[in-house]
Amino acid sequence: MQNNLFAGTLPIQGSDVAAQWDMLYWFLFWLSAFFFVLVVGAMIVFAVKYRHSKVGTKTKYLTGSHALEGVFVVVPTILLMVIFFWGYKVYRNMVTAPADSYEIRVIAKQWLWQFLYENGKVTVGDVYVPLNKPVKFIMTSEDVLHSFFVPSFRVKQDVVPGMYTSVWFEAKVPGKHNIFCAEYCGTSHSGMLGKVNVLTEPQWKDWLKGKEIADSGQSASDGGKKKSGKNSGGGMVEKGKGYFATKGCVACHSADGSKLIGPTLQGVYGSKVDLADGSTALADDNYMKESIENPTAKVVKGFAPTMPPFKGILTEQEITALIAYIRSLK
Ligand code: CUA
Repeated sequence: MQNNLFAGTLPIQGSDVAAQWDMLYWFLFWLSAFFFVLVVGAMIVFAVKYRHSKVGTKTKYLTGSHALEGVFVVVPTILLMVIFFWGYKVYRNMVTAPADSYEIRVIAKQWLWQFLYENGKVTVGDVYVPLNKPVKFIMTSEDVLHSFFVPSFRVKQDVVPGMYTSVWFEAKVPGKHNIFCAEYCGTSHSGMLGKVNVLTEPQWKDWLKGKEIADSGQSASDGGKKKSGKNSGGGMVEKGKGYFATKGCVACHSADGSKLIGPTLQGVYGSKVDLADGSTALADDNYMKESIENPTAKVVKGFAPTMPPFKGILTEQEITALIAYIRSLK
């Protein structure tokens, strides 16, 4: 079923449920295609063959056929039962996480993804998971409806404020897989992106112990195209630019002077910033660090205090690189 004409039109099969899902999908696709051709073909043939050609001819009186009626009832019933039980089986696999799944808590927020691990680690944007092990995401939202979507895993689930929803998967392809928010959630909905980093057994053990994972820059879901930015071996500013894109900053802050939900970061370094309480602050390294780790300490005039605190979420290294990047935005 995978080698059919249009198989390449779906993303890679990054999880074990993806293959099951695709089988069902292609079955439905080709079944529909078969009946489309059958029905439309018959319509055309009959329209030509039985067209009204002679004036005065009268249609014969038709009494019906129990045999045909039987076929029309039995065949669709069997097909619908097949679709139902097949669909139910795949759906049950999709929603029933194995009891030994590694659990990761997911908090969605306008406009970023936060991931909280069993050992207390927290990441933003990027989530790290082991290869060939079941992983369960237990998700909620801090504000509005979002939807967690990893196309190459074929998992998608609404993330709802006030309740927990979950997805699980067993990743089969190491590397990076795109995360999208699939529910319109405001201005930067389209920027609410992330990556699932699937790590091999030794990498995963190292990562849990707190070691930095060397980034090969390979992305499984875009065919291994080199991604600039994070840990790509560039300078501090380059790294900061990468974090700016992957850690959620870009959703609310521009680097080109345009005003988004948060103040632009262009030209802010070294300037005097007007604060909401009427005082001013010098935007130096300490101000930057404080505003990243504890954004409500000094709120910029004209902006709502909506940024989440990044204390304990970003490492000192990441904050240092981000400040270097902000400093470069003249
Ligand atoms: Cu979050 Cu769209």
